[in-house]
Amino acid sequence: MNILVTGGAGFIGSHVADAYLTEGHKVVVVDNLSTGRMELVPEQATFYHTDITSSDIRQIIGDEKIDVISHHAAQTSIQESVKNPEMDANSNIIGTLQLLQNALSFKVTRIVLASTGGAIYGEVNSAPANEATFPDPISPYAISKLCAEYYLNYFLKAHRVSSVVLRYSNVFGPRQNPSGEAGVVAIHCNRLTQGKRPIVFGDGEQTRDFIYVKDVVSANVKALDQNFTGVFNVGTGQETSVNQLTRTLISISGREAEINFQPAKTGDLKRSAIDPAKLKQLGWSPEYNLEDGLLETYRYFEHANVR
Ligand SMILES: NC(=O)c1ccc[n+]([C@@H]2O[C@H](COP(=O)([O-])OP(=O)(O)OC[C@H]3O[C@@H](n4cnc5c(N)ncnc54)[C@H](O)[C@@H]3O)[C@@H](O)[C@H]2O)c1
Repeated sequence: MNILVTGGAGFIGSHVADAYLTEGHKVVVVDNLSTGRMELVPEQATFYHTDITSSDIRQIIGDEKIDVISHHAAQTSIQESVKNPEMDANSNIIGTLQLLQNALSFKVTRIVLASTGGAIYGEVNSAPANEATFPDPISPYAISKLCAEYYLNYFLKAHRVSSVVLRYSNVFGPRQNPSGEAGVVAIHCNRLTQGKRPIVFGDGEQTRDFIYVKDVVSANVKALDQNFTGVFNVGTGQETSVNQLTRTLISISGREAEINFQPAKTGDLKRSAIDPAKLKQLGWSPEYNLEDGLLETYRYFEHANVR
């Protein structure tokens, strides 16, 4: 198949592009390189340096005879979305809508949307949240991702554009940008490899559902299967506190680093985990335990030139 991976120069999109190439598909990448890096785009992929809101998208989808769109391009910073909600909505809502309209015109057979479990469900008292949990998006970013999901659902119902929404939990792994606001694993790895103390905001007892990027990739491979549509959580269902995570990484690093505790950030969720049971029924399940994923990620940061 001919697969367009938007955001294929980014952390998750580049791993997904690699996997689709390995599966024998032709891959086209569209990325505006706002946070992505050219060196992450696989050599065998055709690359277009453009924005998903640009009018070039129509020609790219037509000329490249795209069968499937794997939509990973997004404004992903919650803080930026708070500062500039219009910019966030333009990228995440208008950009997605443009892809959908072109998908319809050119008879694209499938759209896979990378969405977010953590942000969309908001604070959940009885973690893990399942897909039936009522959404409580509390940032412009979470609102724009949920809105994109609703557009996919509309195009599915009104125009039979086959689609699947993958709601990721906290994804970590090689290539994640350590200068971003999230990505605690990448930030910790980067600091530890530089001999700096890892910084934890608040008391560190806040929990997250950390999933290794290779497990997210296998969900994206599964998502090419036309036989299922709808919304699916892609997480482990396990809660890990930021303190636990940080101590594991300190131990992997072999350093004697103390955690540097800083005041909690406003709006930080206390608990976040998502239930992957629905996707497991279709034969997917996470293969990596947290320690193995963290070890691979730490080794990557030891050798990567990402400072
Ligand atoms: N990392 C996570 O834990 C996580 C969790 C939930 C959902 N997601 C979603 O997964 C997707 C990928 O996230 P990531 O962590 O790899 O982030 P990333 O920033 O590494 O990747 C996003 C990519 O999209 C590109 N991009 C951004 N806006 C664009 C635009 N308007 N036009 C073209 N390219 C654009 C960036 O340059 C970058 O290469 C996003 O949709 C994000 O919302 C990520």
